[in-house]
Amino acid sequence: MQINARAFDEIARTVFAPIYPIIARQIVAHTGMTRGVCLDAGCGSGYLGAALASITELHVTFFDESAEMLALAENTIKENGLRSRTGTLQGDIGSIALPAGSVDLVISRGSIFFWEDLPRALREVSRILAPGGRTWIGGGFGTARLKESIRDQMAARNKGSGAFGSKIRCNLGPQMRARFEEALEQAGIADYQIVQSDDIGLWIDIRKEGKENGP
Ligand SMILES: C[S@@+](CC[C@H](N)C(=O)[O-])C[C@H]1O[C@@H](n2cnc3c(N)ncnc32)[C@H](O)[C@@H]1O
Repeated sequence: MQINARAFDEIARTVFAPIYPIIARQIVAHTGMTRGVCLDAGCGSGYLGAALASITELHVTFFDESAEMLALAENTIKENGLRSRTGTLQGDIGSIALPAGSVDLVISRGSIFFWEDLPRALREVSRILAPGGRTWIGGGFGTARLKESIRDQMAARNKGSGAFGSKIRCNLGPQMRARFEEALEQAGIADYQIVQSDDIGLWIDIRKEGKENGP
């Protein structure tokens, strides 16, 4: 499903802006990954990948199916002075043009809910992960308080509609978790942890067997 890049970016750089540095810190705290190669899958305008690159030494590739989103990500890279440690790649999550075992950390926020063939996408993510590699794939808004504030701001923007709040509840709720678990099983991925809380959201942390702590 194509997302309107300009409309999404307007929300991401205003309403969502505070969440990205918090999620970047959560990724480092949970995975311990600060060096190596990172893929921001379904990066949109690239705010999460840029926040993570800014607090680590990771080399980040911004990956998205949308050329328009990648053009916005290029701006984000430039604005944050990250050109020497970043790249962009266009493609579908079901077929990533990267060699097997070439990525230490796959991050992805708010994109998995659009992936049509979830087992195929997760198999592909697992294929590109290096031994000891990790993922942080799912959705969240940093903290429960920020989530509520964003829900309220979105309702105000949408003339009082609770549709965005309903989407959050659905995307971060028990049925989505069950869907993730089913897809991981279908993909033949056994070594993973689902991280879920009111604050953190809902994330898949795949651990690729091999080295203990990544790069
Ligand atoms: C809601 S946006 C989230 C963007 C960004 N991760 C963020 O949190 O600000 C979802 C992004 O996933 C991308 N996307 C959706 N399905 C995809 C797929 N099958 N392969 C690659 N990218 C995809 C969309 O183009 C869009 O940029």
